Amino acid sequence: MFPYDEMFASHLNSLETKHLRRKLITVDSPQDKFLFFHKKKYLSFGSNSYLGIAQHPQLLKSGRKALQKWGTGSGGSRLITGNYSIHEELERKIASLKGQEDALVFPSGFQTNVSVLNAILNNEWIVFCDRLNHASLLDGIRFSGAKIILYKHIDMNDLEEKAKKFSGQKGIIITDGVFSMDGDIAPLHHIVEIAHKYGFLTMVDDAHGTGILGDDGGGSSSFWCVKGLIDIEMGTFSKAFASEGGFVAARKPIIEYLRHMARGFMFSTALPPHVAAISLKAIEISQKEPWRREKLLTLSQKLRQRLKIRGWKVFDDITPIIPLLLSSPQEALDLASFLREKGIFVPAIRPPAVKQSRLRISLMATHTEEDLDRLVEELDAWKNKSL
Ligand SMILES: Cc1ncc(COP(=O)(O)O)c(C=O)c1O
Repeated sequence: MFPYDEMFASHLNSLETKHLRRKLITVDSPQDKFLFFHKKKYLSFGSNSYLGIAQHPQLLKSGRKALQKWGTGSGGSRLITGNYSIHEELERKIASLKGQEDALVFPSGFQTNVSVLNAILNNEWIVFCDRLNHASLLDGIRFSGAKIILYKHIDMNDLEEKAKKFSGQKGIIITDGVFSMDGDIAPLHHIVEIAHKYGFLTMVDDAHGTGILGDDGGGSSSFWCVKGLIDIEMGTFSKAFASEGGFVAARKPIIEYLRHMARGFMFSTALPPHVAAISLKAIEISQKEPWRREKLLTLSQKLRQRLKIRGWKVFDDITPIIPLLLSSPQEALDLASFLREKGIFVPAIRPPAVKQSRLRISLMATHTEEDLDRLVEELDAWKNKSL
């Protein structure tokens, strides 16, 4: 073995002994409530395709039409030859959904966060960052060299106390809209208030709220009635919209600045035009079929109640992300594999993705009450087995 390989192998071995080694599953079906992998069909509670539209006939049709028209790849950066009218149309649509003046689309959500933060921040900035913010936000802040002040998760007293100390300096408050592993919602109305009081900007990563929250699917800002009041709103097309790519929506000067300064926009090949077409159609479907959002939130509420009655520690939230907190990585793996034996897939989430291991249940608008029954029954069976 090459000496460096030994170093990598020994790290992997240490992960194995702590039950933290990952094994990829190889999926062989679209992202709907049934997943096929390793030659078996599973009822899945593990996808971020919350609205359940990955096989929507209109979405497939618009993708096929765009493929016919524009071919496969985009051929270059948006600044060279990769800029298509469909990218611009998508940007107008997302700006309007978010109540902002303008928007910019990137090849992925992760790339959006890292690029936007590095374009805007430097070591003169103070960043107030929720402790549980997504890894792409944390990486973006770290790479920028800005001073990072972590505040307690969703704790507005802690945020305000910290913000007060830096009043008058160049600062920004950054939070997830919906937290990806806990499923709770940041109180954006309070965050905007604190930012205005102390003269800071706000940035929200609404990867998991966009398309889901608010009557119009506008996301967390719509839910808290602060649509258009967040300075920089980021999100992805890769979750509720069943597509790919990230976006940022903001006032015109911020977006124009990012067109000139965001390196992940400047130095990366644009999203293929047919993917942009799929995203655009997905937003339209989410607006024309609000029943998907309504059903999703009803199912989420019902499942939470049922789990609570059965003694599971479940937070009082409304989103389709429902974590079941467990005592150790091993317990998370054991429960996940117990469910898999029964034909149900729920992913085990372990450090470093989270501090406390858990099963992350995520619901889709295509789930039914009977699907919830099946999940609850098997969770009961696990509890009874462990007594
Ligand atoms: C909160 C949050 N932000 C950003 C991202 C990155 O988005 P993408 O998967 O489109 O790169 C994710 C994806 O997991 C996320 O959960």
